[in-house]
Amino acid sequence: MSDTTEAAFQPFKHFEHRGWRAVAERYGPAFSGATGQSIGPMLDALGVGPSVRLLDVACGPGDASAAAAGRGASALGVDFAAEMVALARRKWPGVEFREGDAENLDLPDAEFDAVLMNFGVLHLADPDRAITEAFRVLRPGRGGGRLAFTVWVPPPETVPFAIVLEAVEQHGVPNIGVPPGPPMFRFADSHEARRVLGAAGFVDIGFRPLPITLALADPDALFQIMLEAGVRTSGLLKAQTPAALERIREHMKQRVAGYRVGNGADEAHMLPMPAVLITATKPACA
Ligand SMILES: C[S@@+](CC[C@H](N)C(=O)[O-])C[C@H]1O[C@@H](n2cnc3c(N)ncnc32)[C@H](O)[C@@H]1O
Repeated sequence: MSDTTEAAFQPFKHFEHRGWRAVAERYGPAFSGATGQSIGPMLDALGVGPSVRLLDVACGPGDASAAAAGRGASALGVDFAAEMVALARRKWPGVEFREGDAENLDLPDAEFDAVLMNFGVLHLADPDRAITEAFRVLRPGRGGGRLAFTVWVPPPETVPFAIVLEAVEQHGVPNIGVPPGPPMFRFADSHEARRVLGAAGFVDIGFRPLPITLALADPDALFQIMLEAGVRTSGLLKAQTPAALERIREHMKQRVAGYRVGNGADEAHMLPMPAVLITATKPACA
């Protein structure tokens, strides 16, 4: 991992790096059912098909890269967690994955027709720099040069985050266990996203709501995945006392139970987790 991030957020970047390396195997089974719902819309927005050269930044288990390859694109997935890259290579043997830092891509200028980042930007210590890097590696305009990325809408709309934050607020200590980092929901604010993308040189900036749902079989599953398969939420939960953690767990279980649909073997808990798909173009004259 290279360290180009401003000094203030270096501890956060190291925390995220350690965290993603540790949860690599658990992240996909816990969250891909939800994060995978945005892959089709992103690839459509980017016009991904045969002969498109696509970069998937912060690729995690590589599902978006694999979906792009499935459409005939030449895809490269990059992630800074070695364990994520190893997992992606095992899961999708025909697709190319490399270790790399979104904030300092070891890739030539103007190499890609399309760059995507599925729920990656909210984990970066220096997202503005990653957007500048995406701009640099994109080919200018004329059918190429498209960026697409997704972010979660802030709570209360994103129910899983609302539930965990509310449970900690009521039964534990908020704002501990995670070094200070950039605001997680910053790019869901269209003014802020437009400002950062515009400053990087992007034009034709668009926003589209994506109505994603996190489906859980068991009402206790949200606590388990936030504790064991996330990074920021895991840090927050693991910093609580055992007694507080038990109360948080019970609170979360009861709140998730309120989202039950079906009965018996058909029972599921459907938690709204809306996202925003942000698109932008590198102009032909860049
Ligand atoms: C929430 S996961 C998203 C994974 C995948 N894009 C998906 O949709 O499932 C965030 C990913 O960002 C990666 N990541 C965080 N900071 C990074 C950085 N500076 N450079 C590259 N990858 C990074 C993590 O290792 C992790 O795999």
